[in-house]
Amino acid sequence: MKFEDMINKIINCDCYEMIKNIPDKSVDCIYVDIPYLFQQGGTGTSRIALQVQKMKKELKKADIYDGIDYKIFDEFVRILKNVNCFIWCSKEQIFSILDWFNKNTNSTYQILTWNKTNPVPMCNGNWLSDIEYCLYFNRGTKLNNGYELKSKWYVSSLNQNDKILYNHPTIKPLNLVKRHILHTTQPNDIVLDCFCGSGTTCVACQETGRRFIGMEINKEYYEIANKRINGITAWGQASIFTDFDKLEKQKVLNEVE
Ligand SMILES: C[S@@+](CC[C@H](N)C(=O)[O-])C[C@H]1O[C@@H](n2cnc3c(N)ncnc32)[C@H](O)[C@@H]1O
Repeated sequence: MKFEDMINKIINCDCYEMIKNIPDKSVDCIYVDIPYLFQQGGTGTSRIALQVQKMKKELKKADIYDGIDYKIFDEFVRILKNVNCFIWCSKEQIFSILDWFNKNTNSTYQILTWNKTNPVPMCNGNWLSDIEYCLYFNRGTKLNNGYELKSKWYVSSLNQNDKILYNHPTIKPLNLVKRHILHTTQPNDIVLDCFCGSGTTCVACQETGRRFIGMEINKEYYEIANKRINGITAWGQASIFTDFDKLEKQKVLNEVE
């Protein structure tokens, strides 16, 4: 596939292969939310352990569980004009990703967070999982001004409505992604999200006047993301006309079937 044909599209592919078709120094920003790597745990038959196992099974089914191969970072550095890269990851991945960028690029970093006000209370005697981490790497990229845009943290509840609308277990808040994009890119810039899930980054680009390239390996999520950039929910309605109560009931019915 040619680079020009990827612009403003979501592609159903394995990004490790597809990214090789992107020319050197052609992308302004990479915004990814990578498959997570979790600590072992959640065994046993207590209610909490069973809930943790169910959540991990759901993520595994969606290819969101085994982490990633860091060889893709070489590709990131190759295709970026300047280092300008957001990587959402689990706590377990922070150290190794910081280490990789520290050894292989001259970039500065920030640890950005999404602080959730209503985390799932499954911590089994441990800390609540009420923070998600996003690493940001920069070398030579001009940042835009704006008090809110510059904030390193963002507080909101779990975005249940978007989860219902776009049926993805790790969907990120659209408003937060828009803030990050507005802070670090210029109008018409090209942003790549090669693990795009339900397409949050692509919609954020549409709504801020940036161009995007989305890649997603899972056919179901690819279709959801494609509908989403055309204003259609995972369930086939125009997103502006969504009746959440009806959707919630339908979702429960689907799960029972
Ligand atoms: C953490 S989710 C991204 C969620 C997204 N930020 C959202 O808001 O919907 C990671 C996604 O990467 C996809 N994925 C995993 N391996 C991939 C690969 N090799 N190529 C493309 N996509 C992949 C998974 O199917 C999953 O949907």
